[in-house]
Amino acid sequence: MEPNSSPKPIDWNQVNAIIEEHRTRKWSLIPMLQAVQEAIGYIPPEAIEPIADALNMAPAEVQGVVTFYAGFSLKPKGKCVLKVCRGTACHVKGSRSILRHVKNELQLEEGETSPDYQFSLETVACLGACFLAPTMMVNRDYYGKLNPAKVTSVLGQYRKNREDD
Ligand code: FES
Repeated sequence: MEPNSSPKPIDWNQVNAIIEEHRTRKWSLIPMLQAVQEAIGYIPPEAIEPIADALNMAPAEVQGVVTFYAGFSLKPKGKCVLKVCRGTACHVKGSRSILRHVKNELQLEEGETSPDYQFSLETVACLGACFLAPTMMVNRDYYGKLNPAKVTSVLGQYRKNREDD
């Protein structure tokens, strides 16, 4: 028998099927997780299995994605999520004292949620509003050129809204 001098032909149907399968997974999973988080405020751990089933994925794969992206949370968050910027521009303008002040006001550390689920405190690398440094966000609202008095006033507004609920 003559030796085979060329490699086995590439089965492009198989390659394309694999690419398609992964493309679908990727594009379905992230929007689905975003929609759940938007609706519920976080990704309930019990939702991992139904999401995985719907996309034909292993729950561990979904769990891996959720834990990889900092934007997803498996824990319930407060009604008001504070994101204090600790990026370079904000750091130069005193973000450290802003963060200290927020922690004192809310009696929370980074990554914590108040026992009544009203406030969660997070820090981020840059809020994309460096010209307003130092900055923070409460849910979708930006607050810039902060000083401790302004922080107290902003938090007071959210506390007041809570009492009005
Ligand atoms: S560094 Fe704070 S908004 Fe960019």
